[in-house]
Amino acid sequence: MIKNNKKLLAVLNGEKFKVPPVWLMRQAGRYLPEYKNTRVLAGGFLDLCYNPKLAAEVTLQPLNRFDLDGAILFADILLIPNALGLKLEFREGEGPILETVNDHSDVLKLLKTNAIHDTLSPVYDAVSLIKSKLNKNITLIGFAGSPWTVSTYMIEGRGSKDHQKTKMFLARNPESFNTLISKITDATVDYLSKQIEAGADVIKLFDSWAGSLPGSLVEKYSLKPMKEIAERLKEIFPYVQIIVFPRGVGPHYTKFSQIKAFDCVALDSNLPLIWAKDNVQNNIVVQGNLDPSFLVSGGEMMIEEILNIKKMFSNGGHIFNLGHGITPSADIKNVESLIATLHK
Ligand code: CP3
Repeated sequence: MIKNNKKLLAVLNGEKFKVPPVWLMRQAGRYLPEYKNTRVLAGGFLDLCYNPKLAAEVTLQPLNRFDLDGAILFADILLIPNALGLKLEFREGEGPILETVNDHSDVLKLLKTNAIHDTLSPVYDAVSLIKSKLNKNITLIGFAGSPWTVSTYMIEGRGSKDHQKTKMFLARNPESFNTLISKITDATVDYLSKQIEAGADVIKLFDSWAGSLPGSLVEKYSLKPMKEIAERLKEIFPYVQIIVFPRGVGPHYTKFSQIKAFDCVALDSNLPLIWAKDNVQNNIVVQGNLDPSFLVSGGEMMIEEILNIKKMFSNGGHIFNLGHGITPSADIKNVESLIATLHK
């Protein structure tokens, strides 16, 4: 076993601790006043993502406030479609608006994989800068979206509840859809390779919309492309640790926990803890899974939930986190109390 002074990385490598390492999905964000100030200074959300100095600054902001074990690169899963040639805009209060892929000719118009670095090189510079400033005990997490989740934004052009347009594309033009998935897969492998070369210790793949797939297609469109990315990365970087987040897949979570190329599975908040312990943590390190709404409400119920999660996963590998991203209305005092409760 590799002894490690980075607690989060150590847990991924099989070490156990009384107090689990902790970080929070979307820990740099709008619930922090200093984040909002830096975003204004940058000009907008995308300008912030493509400004290495300011992206490094916001990555480190939550670590200056809270005793966290991980820093996650500040960027977005939609930078890959942007780098593949699709126009991207983030409108205040509206979320992302992306130029869409509507048919096979649009898939073919996407730029070649090696062209993505023209757009994405500021992200790699941000990773190097963060690494140079980061305390040696903190694990640096790089990330990308999963091919399925990224494809939904490329086809819908924005967030969607039912992903009907994407499912229509998949059902009516399966070959074009498969070409799109492999284009995203190739670009993601190259993008993440550069993040690892720049200093990322761990990679997380966000499949935020995996739960929107019918059960019969989870393996083909959620699991398989992420497995390919993980295997290709590990061929180049055998020691890189990979966390996958197939949000909302319910009992399919077990299949993800059995894949050799994955090192950790991030749990959403819907999963019963005891089920997740017996059917996921039994096979792999787990991350999660406090419902982010507790960081808005706080109080005794939040404390109880935190202690239940900690206790349930205390015999196996566990990284404490939320079951989804922290919301803008989260109360900073509740984040402080979360960390204090874990350390008690
Ligand atoms: O702190 C961190 O976690 C690192 C940065 C990070 C962001 N987005 C910054 C961000 C990460 C890891 C992401 C991932 C991401 N982006 C996902 C997967 C995770 C998840 O939450 O399911 C998805 C689906 C996206 C796409 C995206 N980006 C949407 C749908 C939105 C709009 C919704 C919203 O919260 O406004 C974004 C914007 C975004 N990405 C913000 C941040 C901090 C808010 C933008 C702002 O500052 O106005």
